Amino acid sequence: MSADTHPAENTGLLANPPVDGSELIRFDQVTKRFGDNTVLDRLDFSVDSGKHVTLIGPSGSGKTTILRLLMTLTEPDEGTIRVGGELLTHEERNGKLVRAGEKHVREVRKNIGMVFQQFNLFPNMKVLRNITEAPVTVLGLSKDEAEERARELLELVGLTEHLDKYPTQLSGGQQQRVAIARALAMRPQVLLLDEVTSALDPELVVGVLDVLRDIARTTDITMLCVTHEMSFARDISDQVLMFDSGRVIESGPPEKIFSEPEKERTREFLKAVL
Ligand SMILES: Nc1ncnc2c1ncn2[C@@H]1O[C@H](COP(=O)(O)OP(=O)(O)OP(=O)(O)O)[C@@H](O)[C@H]1O
Ligand SMILES: [Mg+2]
Repeated sequence: MSADTHPAENTGLLANPPVDGSELIRFDQVTKRFGDNTVLDRLDFSVDSGKHVTLIGPSGSGKTTILRLLMTLTEPDEGTIRVGGELLTHEERNGKLVRAGEKHVREVRKNIGMVFQQFNLFPNMKVLRNITEAPVTVLGLSKDEAEERARELLELVGLTEHLDKYPTQLSGGQQQRVAIARALAMRPQVLLLDEVTSALDPELVVGVLDVLRDIARTTDITMLCVTHEMSFARDISDQVLMFDSGRVIESGPPEKIFSEPEKERTREFLKAVL
């Protein structure tokens, strides 16, 4: 699709809250344990708004855990997470940090959209309704407004003709593109992508990555990706974080991390996956 015909540009479809380059996500000394297993160990990292950041690292190193913490699907044992300057799981009351109430968490989380490896579409809803459901129930959009936006997003992901189907009537690649449209329908400031092509047959991977490349190129949405698709990571990332044993051990622009990594552990990892 050429840039001048891109639906996102023509309609302001992805005109999410303005990007000013400030810090959108911040982890401060975040520790997460499962029993004796310390998965994240006083982790510090941040993502500036409008940037595309990719997390790489060995299996079990905690990449999914980071995204799940941001989605409040799990909670940190120690440390704090901020989104757009707001504490995610805590609130300040009378100068003290206390655990946040459900309303506060919902407000902050509204800024975050996530696409999972296994699509997680609502199986009992047709494609269009999968996309309109949350904007209507959570954001309070009218059905018409939500449908108009859903149709534009389906055009963006190349699925206009499938809006009346159920998820099981679609290929995995098509389902994943619906999941991307569904996440974007909430106009999040940041899109979290967790190995979104790893459950797909190889010939379906390209279509999904092309849609994501398009979104990265033509919108100013912030992206935090976990991926094993190194050429995709190289293409879209402003910054790559190499992650091991619960910490960021090295970070930098993709040309540096992929071509001249400083750490032996990064070299070893890249040798195994490239
Ligand atoms: N709900 C859970 N209960 C217990 N242990 C968990 C849970 N979720 C994750 N873990 C453990 O936390 C560690 C990190 O898991 P995580 O899924 O974040 O890794 P990952 O980097 O995403 O790995 P992969 O590349 O294989 O997806 C692993 O040792 C995992 O077994
Ligand atoms: Mg994972």
